[in-house]
Amino acid sequence: MLAGLKRLEYRGYDSAGVALVTPDGELATAKKAGKLSNLTDDLEANALPLAQTGIGHTRWATHGGPTDVNAHPHLGDGGRLALIHNGIIENFAQLKAPLVAEGFEFTSETDTEVAAAQLAKNYRATGDLTAAMRETAAQLEGAFTLLAVHADLPGTVVAARRNSPLVIGLGEGENFLGSDVAAFIDYTRTAVEIGQDEVVTITPDSVVITDLAGKVVPSEQFEVDWDTASAEKGGFSSFMDKEIHDQPQAVGDTLLGRFDTEGKLSLDEMHIDENVLKSIDKIVVVACGTAAYAGQVAKYAIEHWCRIPVEVELAHEFRYRDPVVNEKTLIVAISQSGETMDTIMAVRHARQQGAKVIAICNTFGSTIPRESDAVLYTHAGPEIAVASTKAFLSQVVACYLLGLYLAQLRGNKFRDEIALILKDLQTIPEKIQRILDEGKDQVLGLARRNEDVGSVLFLGRHVGYPVAMEGALKLKELAYIHAEGFAAGELKHGPIALIDDGQLVIIVVPSKRGRDSLHAKVISNIQEVRARGANTVVIAEEGDEDVREFASEVIYVPETSTLLAPLLTTVPLQIFAMELATAKGLDVDQPRNLAKSVTVE
Ligand code: F6R
Repeated sequence: MLAGLKRLEYRGYDSAGVALVTPDGELATAKKAGKLSNLTDDLEANALPLAQTGIGHTRWATHGGPTDVNAHPHLGDGGRLALIHNGIIENFAQLKAPLVAEGFEFTSETDTEVAAAQLAKNYRATGDLTAAMRETAAQLEGAFTLLAVHADLPGTVVAARRNSPLVIGLGEGENFLGSDVAAFIDYTRTAVEIGQDEVVTITPDSVVITDLAGKVVPSEQFEVDWDTASAEKGGFSSFMDKEIHDQPQAVGDTLLGRFDTEGKLSLDEMHIDENVLKSIDKIVVVACGTAAYAGQVAKYAIEHWCRIPVEVELAHEFRYRDPVVNEKTLIVAISQSGETMDTIMAVRHARQQGAKVIAICNTFGSTIPRESDAVLYTHAGPEIAVASTKAFLSQVVACYLLGLYLAQLRGNKFRDEIALILKDLQTIPEKIQRILDEGKDQVLGLARRNEDVGSVLFLGRHVGYPVAMEGALKLKELAYIHAEGFAAGELKHGPIALIDDGQLVIIVVPSKRGRDSLHAKVISNIQEVRARGANTVVIAEEGDEDVREFASEVIYVPETSTLLAPLLTTVPLQIFAMELATAKGLDVDQPRNLAKSVTVE
């Protein structure tokens, strides 16, 4: 179980705990604030009794700080029942008041302890843990995955889910539950999806899924197509380092089989009516964080190729501002995990307004693809490091494919350009590999020399602008350094006041072949900051000698079409942030305060 938790630790890592039920009906628990290693050390010093049934959890605090007491599991029924929970129970205060009045005592500040008490109460009334779980799930509002064991039932785990991930692993003489298949991939690759508002009871040799009314529901099995090696570091110092090096393959796999040698795209896998795609008059991309930056890149590409207006909106803002969407709007929801609650809520809202939703997602069977009209999977493989790297590049690739497909479907005047883009796309994996092989050391050196930097500005224009924002986000989240990404043209409208002697500014320079002489405009922007004392580091295309005289350092990336440049220019920025964080002695895979899947709003 600890090995399974280790694989899931990236999802949340401020405390961890386990509960075991021994064959003779004893319930034993251990929990500790901090990383999973704190719990492991504690268990080594204070072993729990042998057992074949248990539940375990790593937490990312929502209600109540990361303390031993607030860590899961939470107990009920006089310490005979244990419960773990992901998500947020929104009506916990309403449920708690009557429980307190009935004499239930609470020791933590968590919403989870209220769910444990409610489940214990329902179990006392029914004597049936599965029925009690159904009743509890019906009483709770919000998002949750709940897993419970009871000392009365050695060999049984009962779970429920709403708006929060949970998947079953089918073994031989053993069964598993996990927020992600990574939890049990060492034991089985056969998995079963659990739908919304469903309750599952597993024993070593049975799995029963019911709805909240107790009716058995059909389930769908799937085979996990990646192996354990892809969820391991494979000799790299961190998952992030490995995942940066996975990028040639992630991009290649995402392109694979999606267009033929004549340049005809085929995305039939999306199973969406072509007439719908022909009739849309607007695209809205909804996503969060890095995925939203992939959407920003998509906007430049799709508008240019398809002449359809594209808006990009943070999912949490979109959901709560009464956006204008209807049957003619195509929503593109981008999410690596497929479980980001903000994005799930945006998808639901858009569908209620009649819009069609295409998900771009990296996690098979997750909530966002399940709730969308169609899905285009990225094939990046499991991304374990909290900061997104290979998922971002493959999201950008999937957006290009979608844009090119729409252009093809709707008839377009850029036939030649599209053929060229497809040709160029196929050379990207090899070009990323070249950056990793030939350019990495330079970026590592740059990062190490800037270990003590207090703030970094990133500038870009056109598709370089989202790259600048992504570079800044990587630095913030990994190295805890204040960083901002600006549209280079915007600087003179205010932010240039930030430039002072020695301020590090990293500028993403577009290709000289780029449209509308943007190259020259960015060179002017570099001069503006340099004249005010900035230390300018430039990311430019190989062969661009013009930038040299304005840069303290130039990092060259291979040539490619203007719109595809983010697939290359992002890579040095990822390496820079990773190495700077490493130089500061920080944990690049698990930065403070973050979680990989943000399953709360
Ligand atoms: C940053 C990062 C986050 C995610 C965001 C959305 O490195 O990883 O900004 O991109 O939380 O996550 P998904 O793509 O899972 O919806």
